[in-house]
Amino acid sequence: MKELKPTVLKIGGSVVTNKGKELKAQMQVISRLVEEIQKANVQNLIVVHGGGSFGHPFAQRYGVTEGFKEETQKIGFSETHHIMTVLNGLFMDALIWRNIPAVSVTPSSCIITNNGRIQRFEDAPLKMLLKLGFLPVLYGDAVLDSKLGFTILSGDQLVSVLATSFHSEHIIIGVDVDGLYDDDPKIKKTAKLFRHLTLEELKRLRSKFGKSTMCDVTGGMFSKIAELLPAIELGIPVTIVNATKPNYIYKVLTGKKVKQTLIEKE
Ligand SMILES: Nc1ncnc2c1ncn2[C@@H]1O[C@H](COP(=O)(O)OP(=O)(O)OP(=O)(O)O)[C@@H](O)[C@H]1O
Ligand SMILES: [Mg+2]
Repeated sequence: MKELKPTVLKIGGSVVTNKGKELKAQMQVISRLVEEIQKANVQNLIVVHGGGSFGHPFAQRYGVTEGFKEETQKIGFSETHHIMTVLNGLFMDALIWRNIPAVSVTPSSCIITNNGRIQRFEDAPLKMLLKLGFLPVLYGDAVLDSKLGFTILSGDQLVSVLATSFHSEHIIIGVDVDGLYDDDPKIKKTAKLFRHLTLEELKRLRSKFGKSTMCDVTGGMFSKIAELLPAIELGIPVTIVNATKPNYIYKVLTGKKVKQTLIEKE
């Protein structure tokens, strides 16, 4: 049985889907990323993927994040969860087809939040999967909430909670831009990329991180950074990297440097 301390890799919905086109998966990107994960052959890894143009538009249409207010939202909760299982299925197909022993762990079946924050997490199966050398795959999901009835759990919160509770060695966040900039690079072309940031520098810069130019019910880059702070405070380094660029995820998984942002406690 292996010791835990897994690397947690988040593949953004901005990478595996076209966030401008509802239900548009980037199949070639998914398959390339799976090849990179296979080639890197990291023994102790958890993958989390985001919702992109699958989860976010459904969650937004039915106000799933705000919680259960009227009966008509229930079908929206079901649809949002279901469409995430469809996106997850595309990922799982690609992984298993490449002989990677990946197993999907459905957040809505093992997590209950309280006012949007993870309150209960039945993580025994996930731990066992890791110990047996499987690759657990989780995702942002529509989940039950003890205060709101239901809500949306972001892949970003999941990444941070998994990394802190399993004392991860490294968090890798794959997005569709080269890292963290002093402004949203999709809005401001002259935005400057930070190559290295300490926790203190990150806290000072927080107001510069935007929500998202695309449909994103979980708050884009601003919320992503807010979610990651507790993990960074615990000393877990975070690399934010462009996963749309071939081999970048492979290189970061194998400890090589690319154009990226590395955030460390000190
Ligand atoms: N200061 C910033 N630096 C880098 N990106 C930023 C910044 N401010 C805003 N962004 C935007 O954040 C986006 C990434 O966050 P977003 O939540 O949209 O994607 P994601 O997390 O990959 O998707 P999902 O939530 O579906 O997983 C980038 O596409 C970028 O335009
Ligand atoms: Mg997001």
